[in-house]
Amino acid sequence: MNDNNTAKANLCPGSIRKKNDDQVLNITPKTQAEVDILKDVSSKYETVLWQPASPELIQEEAEVHLFVPANSSQAVQALLGTHDMTHTVLLTNTKDLLELQTRNDSTDPRSGPSYYEKYHSLEDIYHWLNKTAYENPDRVKVILIGSSFEKRPLYVVKLSVDSNPNKTAIWLDCGIHAREWISQAFCLWFVQYSLSYYQQNRDITRILDTMDVYVLPVMNPDGYKYTWTTDRFWRKNRSVREDSRCFGADLNRNFDASWCTAGASHDPCSEIYCGEFPESEPESRAVASFLRKHKEVVKLYVSIHSYSQMLLFPYSYTRERTENHDDLLAMVKEAAHSIKRYYKNSYKYGTGAQTIYLAPGGSDDWAYNLGIKYSFTFELQDKGRYGFLLPPYQIPKACNEALLAFKSIAINVIEKT
Ligand code: ARG
Ligand code: ZN
Repeated sequence: MNDNNTAKANLCPGSIRKKNDDQVLNITPKTQAEVDILKDVSSKYETVLWQPASPELIQEEAEVHLFVPANSSQAVQALLGTHDMTHTVLLTNTKDLLELQTRNDSTDPRSGPSYYEKYHSLEDIYHWLNKTAYENPDRVKVILIGSSFEKRPLYVVKLSVDSNPNKTAIWLDCGIHAREWISQAFCLWFVQYSLSYYQQNRDITRILDTMDVYVLPVMNPDGYKYTWTTDRFWRKNRSVREDSRCFGADLNRNFDASWCTAGASHDPCSEIYCGEFPESEPESRAVASFLRKHKEVVKLYVSIHSYSQMLLFPYSYTRERTENHDDLLAMVKEAAHSIKRYYKNSYKYGTGAQTIYLAPGGSDDWAYNLGIKYSFTFELQDKGRYGFLLPPYQIPKACNEALLAFKSIAINVIEKT
């Protein structure tokens, strides 16, 4: 029987298996012609663009991360080869990584720390929410702010440590984009940390003594559900429209901030489809309505995405500067330096438009224009090594980095307001 096993194993030695495996390629186009070839590849073949979000955003000298499923692998590599375009392989074992990310998911969240070092299904997160509220009745309230396109509840966790009625507030949302799983994991991490370290850690204590925190752990529940059941790399929500066979709008292009100008698309099949009109999507509308109602108290807006390790602030829809640009820049700079110092990891920082790409209709820009003058988007780990498939053992470091940035920025906001 030993012989049998050996024979079996030898049918798939590593090098052969890899060729027929799903892969993530890293390609940097050097010329406009190469940009065009890549745009073509990502539309012609069954691939998923990991970075940038959509083919129209591919630029010269900027890394392109392309997920290529096994069945298009040879065709794509041949095409790149005929144009003399070099690439490196970021990942080959995506199925193993996917298995790692979905392993041990339990519908019975335990309170042990290991719960927060795993990714969790939507049902599990809803269960966690209930349990957290039940166990912390004096500090946690669950607020229903609306429902998704497929009628799933949008729950916000309100963290509030005492009944001081004059506190200002922070808004924190995760999971606007379904596939960015470290984002949803961060919101859970943040709530757990706040409840455990209030009166233990100086910064979180000062933050919670001064401000309430509204946490929306899964802003796009339909999309998140879909990434667990059907398509791990789904980004948008799951809305349908009569005139297209394509699903979903990009919720971070659906806000009323220079809506659907350069950097977004009117094509429902695009990954950066802006929706039919601003706030056409129930998820973005629910968040916008909540923030409009609470705009006097909310002083800080933070939205969590991945990946690429960046701390961003408005604007993303224009290259113009905001009125408090220097302030915002100083805040992300300090946060990025703290991360560097404590965790030896580097984060880029700056306005969205200058640091990544023009992207209108974003929640951060919209919140800023509403009057929340401290508005940020964090892009968590990593820089593409694992991309959306960040292994669970890396959750703690990724979240601690973001937490450090969050605390640093919040303390600055407290000192300025
Ligand atoms: N990667 C994010 C996106 O494409 C960037 C968010 C930055 N802010 C923005 N308003 N675009 O949505
Ligand atoms: Zn995102």
